[in-house]
Amino acid sequence: MASELSDRLAAVRQRTFQLVAPLSDEQLHRQVDRIMSPPVWDLGHIAAYEELWLVCRLTGEPALHPERADLYDAAETPRAVRGDADLLDADSCRGYLAQVRERSLAALETADLAPDGDALTADGFVFEMVAEHEAQHTETVLQALKLLPPGEYVPPRGGEPAVADARPAGGAVEVPGGAFVKGAGPRGFAYDCERPRHTRVLEPFRIGAAPVTNGAHLAFLEDGGYRRPELWTELGWSWRQREGVEAPLYWMPDGEGGWLERDYDRIDRLELERPVSHASAHEADAHARWAGARLPSEAEWERAALGASADEANLDQRAFAAAPARPSATPSDADCHQMLGDVWEWTSSGFDGYPGFRAFPYPEYAEVFFGGPYRALRGGSWATQPHAVRTTFRNWDHAERRQIFAGFRLAWDA
Ligand code: AVJ
Ligand code: FE
Repeated sequence: MASELSDRLAAVRQRTFQLVAPLSDEQLHRQVDRIMSPPVWDLGHIAAYEELWLVCRLTGEPALHPERADLYDAAETPRAVRGDADLLDADSCRGYLAQVRERSLAALETADLAPDGDALTADGFVFEMVAEHEAQHTETVLQALKLLPPGEYVPPRGGEPAVADARPAGGAVEVPGGAFVKGAGPRGFAYDCERPRHTRVLEPFRIGAAPVTNGAHLAFLEDGGYRRPELWTELGWSWRQREGVEAPLYWMPDGEGGWLERDYDRIDRLELERPVSHASAHEADAHARWAGARLPSEAEWERAALGASADEANLDQRAFAAAPARPSATPSDADCHQMLGDVWEWTSSGFDGYPGFRAFPYPEYAEVFFGGPYRALRGGSWATQPHAVRTTFRNWDHAERRQIFAGFRLAWDA
């Protein structure tokens, strides 16, 4: 188990370096938008987080650079001010990361990983947490890099996204009502907000067999979707007007009445079969109302995702784009496709704790966001590493956010 954990930590680290390798120091330090960090902050934060959890908490040893703690603490130094902060340069971050890693591997050697030992280390919990944390930050960095002017970041692509030879049969699937078990079980790694496992009783519903495509969203747009306040929530419409939103974030008019879409350095004709990406929850809500549908609740989404496998999913970053709607040999038990990977999917639910929630190992991961102005998202995107997502995994963000790799799927009352 210890060697698996050290391999996992090493693999995530290799990916982190691979993703930022094409960037100059100036690009790493640039804050493209106040809602994102300069990527070099993420590097220092990854090191500080690992030092806190794998060194200080496990061994009781002090941090090597206590003066860095506040600078690289997400709450003490919020995103908006990270661009003006006196951050370590990239080489110093690499040194800091290596220095910490040496000490965390020493801690791993002596840690009690037995399942009935201390909950922090049982089954490797905190080591998995640190590996998933770094993986989550690589996705955040990819969001920031996509905001750079076209062509500035040329992604280290490792393959092309899958091609569709057919769409999943059945636009929507029926899911019977009744009791289902929601959340992660007690064993293995999951974040506190995925627990405890509990029973939910659902009414029967229908849900899209695949996420909503660019083609369907283009039909919404061409039907005046972005001009018709009656389709939008009050909050959504005032956001749309204030921001002047006319299309998803990386759609660009081609000047002849058609649309292009940009993926980092590539600008191509809008691919109609791909899931719509970089739409806010407000756009998702409006599209759903236009389609005579609604978004699924988190519980409905998780029910429909039971049994979904990550095996054929477009996860793990190297495609650098979502892939067209396509049938999978391993759909969920309810016969839904692309539940994992491609795009995060907005739900209609706010972000709250499950009944009997207990913060572990720290309330700042999830609990401090409960009941806030957030919407839950599910399923991971192409930019999510496979070990960092599962059907119980919960993500959350402000409804207006569009830099995240998010789309949506429709649902209906049965
Ligand atoms: C789960 C993606 C909302 O980025 O704020 C990273 C993940 N938590 N470091 C975030 C996270 C602490 C979190 N999200
Ligand atoms: Fe973090």
